[in-house]
Amino acid sequence: MIILGIETSCDETACAVVQAGQNVLAQALASSANLHYKTGGVVPEIAARKQLEFIIPVIQDCLDQTATHFNLEKGDYLNLKSHIDAIAVTVGPGLIGSLLVGVDAAKTLALAWDKPLVGVNHLVGHLYANFINRPADEITFPAIGLVVSGGHTDFVLIHKHQALEYIGGTTDDVAGEAFDKTARLLGLATYMGGPLVSKKAAECVTELYKGRLPRPMFDTKDLDMSFSGLKTSAKNLIASVAPLTDEKITALAKEFETAVVDVLLKKTQLAVEKYGVKTILMGGGVCANKTLRTKMADYAQTKGLRLFYPALDLCTDTAVYIAGAAYFNYLPAKAYSDIQANPSLGIC
Ligand code: KG4
Ligand code: ZN
Repeated sequence: MIILGIETSCDETACAVVQAGQNVLAQALASSANLHYKTGGVVPEIAARKQLEFIIPVIQDCLDQTATHFNLEKGDYLNLKSHIDAIAVTVGPGLIGSLLVGVDAAKTLALAWDKPLVGVNHLVGHLYANFINRPADEITFPAIGLVVSGGHTDFVLIHKHQALEYIGGTTDDVAGEAFDKTARLLGLATYMGGPLVSKKAAECVTELYKGRLPRPMFDTKDLDMSFSGLKTSAKNLIASVAPLTDEKITALAKEFETAVVDVLLKKTQLAVEKYGVKTILMGGGVCANKTLRTKMADYAQTKGLRLFYPALDLCTDTAVYIAGAAYFNYLPAKAYSDIQANPSLGIC
């Protein structure tokens, strides 16, 4: 089965064509991220306008790549349509203006080509990034799923495809947001600063502030987390050591990153023990974090667990795993009108 997926939940406009949830035949992406650095965060109105501007060229680019894959002329969409079995689209969570553009485009394409339409949860999509370029039977269930994106930090118990159970998550701010805020306070980036905090942390030679930040809810026996207090503590610590030097910045970044990773690792261990699973799937932008990947991998190896995290380009937003998730959770809408954008959709 070949599925065309569309993703427009925030500031990326993406389209991909994926076979059997694993093989990427084509993909295209445009982003308005560069505009959001100026404002220090996404302005929803601007993101939505850019989605409108990008959506048709991005879909066209992806269709042309797919046509080439099938030895058709670029633009020969009449013959291309028989190669596509279904259209999938992110329905939420995300920004309403952005989501609407993708949902409307997907409906239009499905209607014009008379194809089934599948709505996909963006957060579930992040987890299905693990199935891309991997034999499907390599990942066995039940598994613990950890989504750490810019907007969510959630644990789910994945019983099997289409059967996810929410088992815990942050009760306030999310890890990605805490990374971004800390990057701003350290003067590293106004937007999406997580990778820069991580880069600075890797440069740290002397751990000047080791143990100075809290590991919130570290010892609670549930899978809930909290990053709001950590954000405030980081703010206070940064202010208390001003003026900042490169040495201080690297040490602050290191302590902050370690605090977040300590919490995520501890709660993952708790989830694994509580539910007795042997498989862990990670997904979302923060999964690109090298320290998180390394510490999780060490833990999994020690305990004989199977850990999966996506390739770096599949941690951030793309339509590839939206098409992938639709394949494994294939549930076409009875009527196109049943597919609606839902900005506040939870993971399950
Ligand atoms: O999943 P994503 O692309 O967006 C949402 O769906 O929300 O995640 C973006 C988040 C941002 O907070 C970004 O700073 C963070 O992922 N991020 C990182 C790293 N790469 C991206 N955080 C820490 N270390 C990284 N290497
Ligand atoms: Zn995302």
